[in-house]
Amino acid sequence: MRIQRLHPDFGAEIHGIGLIDAASDAGAFAQVRAAFEEYSVLVWRDQPITDDVQAVFSRGFGPLELVKVGSAGHGTFYSRMSNIGPDGKIVPPSDKALLIARANQLWHTDSSFKKVPAVASVLSARVIPEQGGETEFTSTRAAWERLRPSEQAQLRDAVAIHSYATSRNQIDPTMMTPEEHASLPPVRRRLTWCNPVNGRRSLYLASHAGGIEGMGEREGAELLAYLMAHATEPAHTYAHSWKPGDVVMWDNRATMHRGKPWGPAQLRSIVRTTISATEEHGVRDVLPELWDQRAAA
Ligand code: OGA
Ligand code: MN
Repeated sequence: MRIQRLHPDFGAEIHGIGLIDAASDAGAFAQVRAAFEEYSVLVWRDQPITDDVQAVFSRGFGPLELVKVGSAGHGTFYSRMSNIGPDGKIVPPSDKALLIARANQLWHTDSSFKKVPAVASVLSARVIPEQGGETEFTSTRAAWERLRPSEQAQLRDAVAIHSYATSRNQIDPTMMTPEEHASLPPVRRRLTWCNPVNGRRSLYLASHAGGIEGMGEREGAELLAYLMAHATEPAHTYAHSWKPGDVVMWDNRATMHRGKPWGPAQLRSIVRTTISATEEHGVRDVLPELWDQRAAA
């Protein structure tokens, strides 16, 4: 396996081991797994990707999430983000897929609002516009390491409130269905997450985060805005320009990402599989409910 660095902070393009190799050979998988823990964003080009290949590869990292209610692919492993209608043409301007694409243009980490957060996402390009539609990443591990020690001490054990509604309301307060509202109550998440493999801590932030426990509404929102701006300074981001056949995998514990716009007449179809965080990924670190139980026991 050969690694090509993508940014001084994070990111690696992988050569010599493809998704099928990693899915079928334990030694190859171990190398990819180590690169994932180290570099946070992995890129492959020219993969013979199918839904099955993507799911089997992803499953090596942990249990797969089922797509939530209200999203295309609900109840399956495959989150389908596409502006292509059943007739092969672009969906009408009123289609919810276009609002979802806009919401994906807010800096976020996937599934921070779910009862069980996600350790990683694997995204494959199926149909890609000629121009635009990049996905931009930043390392929240590097962002944490750039903070002053006094800031780190203040933030390390803080708890943020994450809710899907917080990010959707920034786009269109009517875009969530009643089923989405009912199934996605706000959750408490520690503001930092420590990777148990290398002991490195990251800020755990997203546009889904709306407040900080124990702070006033305005004070909490201001702190989150400061940290989001700190984490996403342009010098610290990497934008992936997609080609069909590309696969990008990222660590939701240690990165944020956002989509970039593309021309309204251009077709784009991508498929994401998402891996739930378990004890092995240090999930306990971000779930204050589990600390409370341990303290009470
Ligand atoms: C995602 C996502 C952004 C994009 O797949 O989780 O946020 O560029 N995608 O489509
Ligand atoms: Mn996303």
